[in-house]
Amino acid sequence: MQPITQAIRIRTNRTDEMEHSSPLFLTSSFCFDNAEEMRATFADETDYNIYSRFSNPNVQELVDRVCALEGAEAGYATASGMSAVFASFMALLKQGDHLLSCNAIFGSTHTVITKFLNKYGIEYTYVPAGKEDEWEQHIRPNTRMIYLETPTNPGLDIIDLEKVSALAKKHNLILNVDNCFATPIGQQPIQFGADLVIHSATKWMDGQGRVLGGVVAGRKDLIKEIYLFCRSTGPALSPFNAWVLSKSLETLDVRMERHASNAAQLAQKLEGHPKIAWLRYPFLPSHPQYAIAKKQMKNGGGLFCFELTGGLESGRKFLDALQLLSLTANLGDTRTIASHPASTTHGKLTEAERQEVGITPGLIRISVGLEHVDDILQDILQALDKC
Ligand SMILES: Cc1ncc(COP(=O)(O)O)c(C=O)c1O
Repeated sequence: MQPITQAIRIRTNRTDEMEHSSPLFLTSSFCFDNAEEMRATFADETDYNIYSRFSNPNVQELVDRVCALEGAEAGYATASGMSAVFASFMALLKQGDHLLSCNAIFGSTHTVITKFLNKYGIEYTYVPAGKEDEWEQHIRPNTRMIYLETPTNPGLDIIDLEKVSALAKKHNLILNVDNCFATPIGQQPIQFGADLVIHSATKWMDGQGRVLGGVVAGRKDLIKEIYLFCRSTGPALSPFNAWVLSKSLETLDVRMERHASNAAQLAQKLEGHPKIAWLRYPFLPSHPQYAIAKKQMKNGGGLFCFELTGGLESGRKFLDALQLLSLTANLGDTRTIASHPASTTHGKLTEAERQEVGITPGLIRISVGLEHVDDILQDILQALDKC
């Protein structure tokens, strides 16, 4: 069965009510018929649910659907994308280990790596996006994991998954890929050799800006460690959020097709506009890693970004002039969103760190929604006129 069919058809066991849509198992704990069954379940001799911090049917349905889409052996869902990122570090890295991370990553992930991992004696080195040939020289005897996003947030650099995966295999490292921007519809990192894939399900998976959620999927042995860490520390996803997210996966494929086609049309039409210094979209031939994007992605995704010729002041005027697009701290919604990463999501980076990863003062990131493409274009053009 095709993964997109599985993402629609995998479901919780039907109850005696014979419901068509999965019911919501809004329960903290689960009952046992007798003491022996309860003992056996706690001893891992059955796979019954015990408590929703450990597992829940709605959460499992979401995980199974994501695993089908990603081609993953196993998974675990968390309360947010960041708890999935953090759990993958804490469960798999220990004191004295070294993490090799691409430098172009989401702002909160940067904070976890630079401000918190050192409290547990875990070292890190940032390696440059777009220069994967240089990464090997930074691998140390204690390096245990390579972490990256592709496309990166917010600069939309594309990292060569095949190349980095070969490097990880050569040095016996875990390759951990945040696949939030591409979604499994656009790219399946496990196909290229990734060991783990992370999602902020809050973004395209929900797709309507309603709930937070995260998923980590991949190798069974690694997921087991993550599960054991999460089951005791408690970043569990709520059954309600899992139910919402799981229903959303049924439409992920058709939504991403439209998000990507809207984004591609807008990127083509806006590239070369006199108020835009440069524009980046993975499937535009002008993208510096266009060939890699074409090799590993099925579409260019729903995001593009551009630098205004007038820098920071133009950026402010542009955002203030928008009438239809939303100014909000999210992406991957039905509604198109404009954001200014330097003053928001990546505001905690130093100026030098921002410059290093291409977050310039006039950088605008557009998360393209499902509105009619002409309406989105009109709003962007009229705002460009005013800045
Ligand atoms: C690439 C990426 N990874 C992880 C996250 C964190 O996800 P969440 O906000 O669900 O914790 C985000 C949030 O914007 C993101 O863009």
